[in-house]
Amino acid sequence: MKLVVLLGSPRKNGNSETVAKSVVAPIERSGGTVEYIRLNDLSLRPCQGCGGCDKNGDCIIDDDMKDIYTTVDAADRLLLVSPVYFYGLSAQCKIFGDRMQARWARRYLLKDRYRQEEERKGYLISSAATKGPKIFDCSILTTRYIYDAMDVEYGGEFLIKGVDKRKAVLEHPEEMQRAEAFGKDILAGRI
Ligand SMILES: Cc1cc2nc3c(=O)[nH]c(=O)nc-3n(C[C@H](O)[C@H](O)[C@H](O)COP(=O)(O)O)c2cc1C
Repeated sequence: MKLVVLLGSPRKNGNSETVAKSVVAPIERSGGTVEYIRLNDLSLRPCQGCGGCDKNGDCIIDDDMKDIYTTVDAADRLLLVSPVYFYGLSAQCKIFGDRMQARWARRYLLKDRYRQEEERKGYLISSAATKGPKIFDCSILTTRYIYDAMDVEYGGEFLIKGVDKRKAVLEHPEEMQRAEAFGKDILAGRI
């Protein structure tokens, strides 16, 4: 299994990252390849809506997304890891997603399906401070649509509410176990 983990929080070792590492643990133990991309450390411009990708499915912006396209193209499992920011994905994740407009163009304008023969799946990992019933709705919808553009099947989400300060998740050992079980489900192909 080749897993790419897109860390979307600016906070190192925060809640979403800590949970993601528990999800990843069983995959790493099984010998899977895991690559972390810390989006906040990269130079990523937002999509300019220029339509440059309409012609060939490639983005014309010359920045760190170039390497990200290559890395995610080679992955068969993806984790998008984001805190909830104002009821949605963090800006870092949103920029990543918007730049996948190039893949949307490839799939839907150029009708070029990506590596159709191989199963590629993507998941959302997210944490939020509050506990509202709709707190993850926006992030889930956006993530589903990003993966669809990438020609990646949406495999589901691991969500944790009511955690705010850094590493607050560690006060919930049962949630950490649930995260590890989520990773085992990914590994076993159950999700
Ligand atoms: C700019 C910003 C916006 C936020 N917006 C929300 C929000 O709308 N709802 C919520 O429940 N928590 C919100 N939070 C809290 C984070 O989602 C929460 O602390 C989360 O666990 C942080 O994850 P991290 O440690 O991985 O960064 C916000 C935090 C920041 C810094």
